[in-house]
Amino acid sequence: MSTTLSPAGAVHSSEDATRVAEANTLLSPKFYRTDYAAMDRIDVSPVRAEWDAMMAEYEGDNNHDHFQRTEAFADEVAMLMPRLSPELRQEFIDFLISSVTSEFSGCVLYNEIRKHVSNPDIKALMGFMARDESRHASFINQSLKDFGLGVDLGGLKRTKAYTYFKPKYIFYATYLSEKIGYARYITIFRQLERHPELRFHPIFRWFERWCNDEFRHGESFALIMRANPHLLRGGNTLWIRFFLLAVYATMYVRDHTRPALKQAMGLEPTAYDYAVFNITSEITKQVFPLTLDTDRPAFRAGLDRLFQISQRMAAAKARGGLVGKAQQLGLALAGAGTFAKLYCMPVKRNPLPLQVRMSPAW
Ligand SMILES: [Fe+2]
Ligand SMILES: [Fe+2]
Repeated sequence: MSTTLSPAGAVHSSEDATRVAEANTLLSPKFYRTDYAAMDRIDVSPVRAEWDAMMAEYEGDNNHDHFQRTEAFADEVAMLMPRLSPELRQEFIDFLISSVTSEFSGCVLYNEIRKHVSNPDIKALMGFMARDESRHASFINQSLKDFGLGVDLGGLKRTKAYTYFKPKYIFYATYLSEKIGYARYITIFRQLERHPELRFHPIFRWFERWCNDEFRHGESFALIMRANPHLLRGGNTLWIRFFLLAVYATMYVRDHTRPALKQAMGLEPTAYDYAVFNITSEITKQVFPLTLDTDRPAFRAGLDRLFQISQRMAAAKARGGLVGKAQQLGLALAGAGTFAKLYCMPVKRNPLPLQVRMSPAW
């Protein structure tokens, strides 16, 4: 059974949804290209035993039957969606579009790397991860189709702008996005396990096994980085700090821009974000020699300020004209200054564990 629900708010058609997915803003998920020859030269032999165990898990493919839409799923959608307030409906649609974009971004990147390398370790890994992300993206797209809003993924691959990242930046950024993705999904899953009455869409029931895929993808990048320890010391720790802050700050601003989604699940965006940061920081100790001190009051005040600046930026853009442009410039400088201040705050150092791999125990 399939139901088409009329959308409310800014996104009215699949074309609108695809345009939103295509847009490149500071906060939207991006598509990446990298240096495939350098990817081809990666040597994972220092972590061979852990690597082979991980590859056996990928081959076992314990989620091969998970991303199937059942009859009960469709019935639940038909029952629950008409009850959503227009605001929640719009935020949920935004959430689905940005999620499908970031799942598909992983799919495209991993698949391109797979096609361009001959290194058997990297080729096999990228094939497995592209397989998983393609399942995730199609599963979300089916839920967008309930609203008549499927994103044209093939078109997106051709038309969205790509950002070039050196392999090491791909490792830092992708590792973090996989692990924070795990932390976000498991926090939502646990909350709705405690409060099933707040589960306003069946897709959240899929999150537990889903985020185990993301956790494993993160493990893969952890092993690659630990096999190449120069990526984790010296001047590179400055890049690690940068990516940690960029990922945390982006998430904070984005979640506070659409608070209704979390509130409908009984989660306050600030508490939710710090719970996710705590889990992520615990996990990233497997590979990064430092974590951000997210409990520091000045750190929290800095993230709040970034959110306020981004709200005022949206108002200045809406205003337009010369005054609007001048305001935007001022706010961009204020944003960069706040980011720089956050970047310079003291961090917490940690030793790296002998055994790299962890289990998704949250
Ligand atoms: Fe995924
Ligand atoms: Fe993933």
